Amino acid sequence: MYVLGIETSCDETGVAIYHSEHGLCHHLLYSQVDMHSEYGGVVPELASRDHIRKLVPLIKQCLQESQLASSAINGIAYTAGPGLMGALLVGAATARSLAWAWQVPAIAVHHMEGHLLAPMLEENPPEFPFVALLISGGHTLLVQVEGIGRYQLLGESLDDAAGEAFDKTAKMLGLGYPGGPRLSALAEQGTPQIKFPRPMTDRPGLDFSFSGLKTFTMNTFNASGKTEQDKADIAAAFQQAVAETLSIKCKRALQQTGLKRLVIAGGVSANKQIRASLTQMVAKENAQLYFPRLEFCTDNGAMIAYAGCQRLMAGQQQGLEIYARPRWPISELN
Ligand code: KG4
Ligand code: ZN
Repeated sequence: MYVLGIETSCDETGVAIYHSEHGLCHHLLYSQVDMHSEYGGVVPELASRDHIRKLVPLIKQCLQESQLASSAINGIAYTAGPGLMGALLVGAATARSLAWAWQVPAIAVHHMEGHLLAPMLEENPPEFPFVALLISGGHTLLVQVEGIGRYQLLGESLDDAAGEAFDKTAKMLGLGYPGGPRLSALAEQGTPQIKFPRPMTDRPGLDFSFSGLKTFTMNTFNASGKTEQDKADIAAAFQQAVAETLSIKCKRALQQTGLKRLVIAGGVSANKQIRASLTQMVAKENAQLYFPRLEFCTDNGAMIAYAGCQRLMAGQQQGLEIYARPRWPISELN
């Protein structure tokens, strides 16, 4: 079965074709980063309009480069949420209309389920069950995964998501947008001089909170000489604090569930120091760490095509409505 996947939840237009037996055929991504960077962050209305411009040409290109006719497509998967309403609607309306025209089923995919399953596109995919740490711009979730659609939420962020904390801290340091990768690059030039807090690690539980760390960083920055070296050192201390906090919580989640496989996914899982710190932790726990290739950590169409294909093969499909849900708790998928 060939499934066309469409991702438009935020600032990337992603399109992919996945085959149930042969795997990923092709994927294309158009990033709106340059457009939004002028404004220092994502402008929702501009995002929607750009998805409108880019989506259909990208679908055509994807079919052409895969040497597939539209009649070869057996189903269409689209991100229905969570995300920006306008942006989601572009993908949902396009997917639903194409599915109607091509007389194939459409399936609404949860964006975070897409991230969660992205490591399945790799050569050595994790077997179920596993613990997943999903760290993106909008979410920080620790999930116990028994199988596709069988997710138990173990912990989540009570305020800022990990990516949001990176983005806001980067903005504060004057690094602009996109903040995460810029802050991470700057951190490599610095050394942590001050120990930043590891929030919520001194009490039991698997929830996260990053907004206090953000404030601590701001106060440290304001009290510093604000030189380039100060900025780099602060970036390094911030990144180290996030990496270590995530590592402590993941270790706890592995111990609590007795599981030996940890999956990390979502944009922040592209962060080198976070990967290194989790790699060290799992080695001590005799566990295995799985993550997607770098381009599938951040938003992409491939993960949506994969997740949609699994659900379509399980006999699920959406009705004729254009389904978009900006807020959609992952626990509702069960
Ligand atoms: O998964 P994603 O592409 O979109 C959402 O679903 O939100 O994640 C984007 C987030 C942004 O906050 C971005 O700053 C962060 O991932 N990010 C990073 C890195 N690359 C992307 N954060 C830290 N280090 C990175 N290397
Ligand atoms: Zn995402």
